[in-house]
This record gives sequence, C-alpha cells and structure tokens, in this order.
Amino acid sequence: TLAPLAPLARAAREAGRGLAAFNVIHLENAESFAAAAEETGQGVVMQISQNAARYHGSLAPIALGTLEIARTCSVDVVVHLDHADDLDLIGQALRLGFTSVMYDGSRLPDAENRARTRDVVRAAHLLGVSVEAELGEVGGKDGVHSPTARTDPGEAARFVEDTGVDLLAVAVGSSHAMTTRDAELDLDLIDRIARAVPVPLVLHGSSGVSDAGIQAAIRAGMTKINVSTHLNQVVTSSVREVLTGEGAPVDTRRWFGPGREAGRAEAARLQRLFADPAPL
Ligand code: G3H
Ligand code: ZN
Repeated sequence: TLAPLAPLARAAREAGRGLAAFNVIHLENAESFAAAAEETGQGVVMQISQNAARYHGSLAPIALGTLEIARTCSVDVVVHLDHADDLDLIGQALRLGFTSVMYDGSRLPDAENRARTRDVVRAAHLLGVSVEAELGEVGGKDGVHSPTARTDPGEAARFVEDTGVDLLAVAVGSSHAMTTRDAELDLDLIDRIARAVPVPLVLHGSSGVSDAGIQAAIRAGMTKINVSTHLNQVVTSSVREVLTGEGAPVDTRRWFGPGREAGRAEAARLQRLFADPAPL
C-alpha cells in the first residue's frame, strides 16, 4: 500500500522503533525491499534520489515502476524523493504521486534554506505529501567525508517551527557513502535534538554506522534510518561472486536475480534490527 511518510514515522517514533529507508536505484532494488517488507511485516520507505534520477536520465520510468510495486505491496510503502535541491524535480515527484519528498537546502545560507523549504512544504501539504528537510549538512555527498558537522538542537527546533517540515535530517557524526561501518555517532546530541524537536529525526549516511551503533541511535531518538551504500555493497558482492570464474552466466537475470535475493535478505535483516533496537 502506498502510504505517506509522516504518520508512519510518527508511529515509529512513539513506539521507539526505527523506520528503514532504502534507496532504489534499479527496479530490482524496489522488488527486494517490497519482498523484505512483506516478510517482516514492517512498513518501509523506498527512496529515489535526485542523483538516481539523473543516472536514468529522468525520474518518471523508475518512479512509476517503484510506485506500482508500492501499491501492490501488502504492507505500507512510502515512495520518497531523496536529496533533491531541484525544485522542478520536486514538482515532478508531486505530480507522479510520490508520498514524500526531501528538499535538501543544507548547502544554502540558512535564510534561503528556510524560505525554499517553506515553499516546498506549502505545495506538498496541499497534496497530503510529507516533507523532509536537512539542517547542518551531513557530509560525503560529493565523495568528501566530513563527519564533523553538527546540528544545534535549538536551531533545529526553530527551523521545524518556521518551516512546518514533517521530518528533519540532522548532522550527528555520520557521513554519506562510507564503505566501512565505523562512524562514531554523538548519541548525547541525538538525545538533545530529539527532546527539542517535535518531529521524527532522520539519520543519513547510516551505511557508515555499525548495527549496534544504529540501534543505539534509535534508542537515543533517531527514527528514519537511510541506508544506501551498504545495500549496494551486499548486492555487488553477490553479483561479483556469480560472475567470477568459469561458466559465468550471460543472461542478466542470472546475476541480477541472485543480487536481488541478497538485497532482500539484508534489507529484511536491517528492518528487524531497526524495529527492535533494545540492547542485547
Ligand atoms: O539519503 C541517503 C542516505 O543518507 C544513504 O547514505 O549511502 O551512506 O547509506 P549511505
Ligand atoms: Zn542522505
């Protein structure tokens, strides 16, 4: 079922659960995540980034396939536009039927980020679509790792009040596109932001954080957990295994199929981990 993000994220926050948000780059990813969500019975966010849309040349083909997979899934699926700073692309997502969008103005001067975020919120809310914004830039989007940025709790509270966003992405020590899971999160800061901010918080760059680190972040107050690179690693390793050696298949289904299966298994494992973040 295609579902809006805000109520799903609020329910997760109230229950102390994390909500998995996985990136869809190819349609097979959406197939993996839908199967994992049905298996675990947990709702999921399928997110398509502005970068992924650029890779395909346009947003509509991958988005329409993902939306159809979401509609036919037996559990709640949010289809979310991830990291968009292009307002035209956000308009396209709203017309296509996305149930959530992220406007990422984290690189803009504060006043401009606020003003544009407010405009996106106004347009999206008219359609019942949720909005995520980012305050305090989470590094690594351009391949440069900078886990040093931090979001101030007071500023975060004022930003949410000012813009009316449904979720807020904050900088607490993670960095995008890490291939090792050794980022150290500032759990005390997560706790202080969660107390100050009335909406669910989003952890970006979660691939760089260990299983235990993500669970601790959820216990401290994080809700939407964005994972992309780690799932790419899992799918690619499985494909690499199938394609190495004698008799490697030529039919693309015979390597993408096992990759899709590996992605499903890891997505389901992560969903279970986020839904039950109690310490062992
Ligand atoms: O918005 C997407 C996420 O922040 C993914 O980051 O590739 O480091 O897991 P990641
Ligand atoms: Zn991100």
